[in-house]
Amino acid sequence: MTEQKPVTKATATKVPTLPDAQTVTSVEHYTDRLFSFRVTRPQSLRFRSGEFVMIGLMGDNGRPLLRAYSIASPSWDEELEFYSIKVPDGPLTSRLQHIKPGDQVVLRPKPVGTLVHDALLPGKRIWFFATGTGFAPFASLLRDPQTYEDYDEVIITHTCREVGELTYGARLIEDIRNDELLQELIGAENLKKLRYYPTTTREESPKMGRITDLMRSGEVFEDLGVAPLSPETDRAMVCGNLAFNLEIKELLESYGLEEGANSDPKHYVVEKAFLD
Ligand code: A2P
Repeated sequence: MTEQKPVTKATATKVPTLPDAQTVTSVEHYTDRLFSFRVTRPQSLRFRSGEFVMIGLMGDNGRPLLRAYSIASPSWDEELEFYSIKVPDGPLTSRLQHIKPGDQVVLRPKPVGTLVHDALLPGKRIWFFATGTGFAPFASLLRDPQTYEDYDEVIITHTCREVGELTYGARLIEDIRNDELLQELIGAENLKKLRYYPTTTREESPKMGRITDLMRSGEVFEDLGVAPLSPETDRAMVCGNLAFNLEIKELLESYGLEEGANSDPKHYVVEKAFLD
């Protein structure tokens, strides 16, 4: 038993009272379906950009209700950021969407996942393919200097139903391009490698259509002025809904890319965007 330290008023809200508890520091809502939040980071937590952890809230039965969440913040950030859907009847997100700064969430500090640089062989160009909240792991990877050190070109595609659902990603790209700290950390020259390709499927926007259809028609390659993916030059990470993941996997295989893993690095890796 260690002696309890007296808690001063200024730090009282930062002191976890539950096992594995972290304190919410900010919350932002984008649409009636999407929000992001930041929490304090356990001092001992180390993770690789692209990994996920289990987070949640205490249930009425005194047991935590946990779900897998990709860490959206980069590994050098002193806080942790998450990007979440709000499922109206979802056991966790119907409650989680109401969290406020000062509230506590449960966070198991055991990061895992396949969307990591270690699972890919060296290449020239990396593609990040996201739908909906599948953008989250890429929000981390896009702020990781290694992403730009390892590749000559970094392309992020994000397909959502409506324009408002692109906001989190669009703002992040803006931040990366304009933030002084990121410029310093990643290097202004390196940041020029970043290309952003947002599309919508159910609301008018400058580029409409599912990314899979735009790949099949060749439109995305024409728009970006790059050749279709090839195992010699291209690497890919995929995170979206299940149907999307299956469809894009088939497409990537048709270009000759093979699926890799931490223990067996190859040309692409896939993770499901986690839902309630
Ligand atoms: P669509 O509107 O045509 O269904 P969700 O919010 O349901 O997770 O979907 C996020 C985005 O992923 C939507 O724009 C949706 O397009 C798109 N999507 C869904 N299934 C697929 C698929 N099999 N291939 C490509 N995109 C998909």
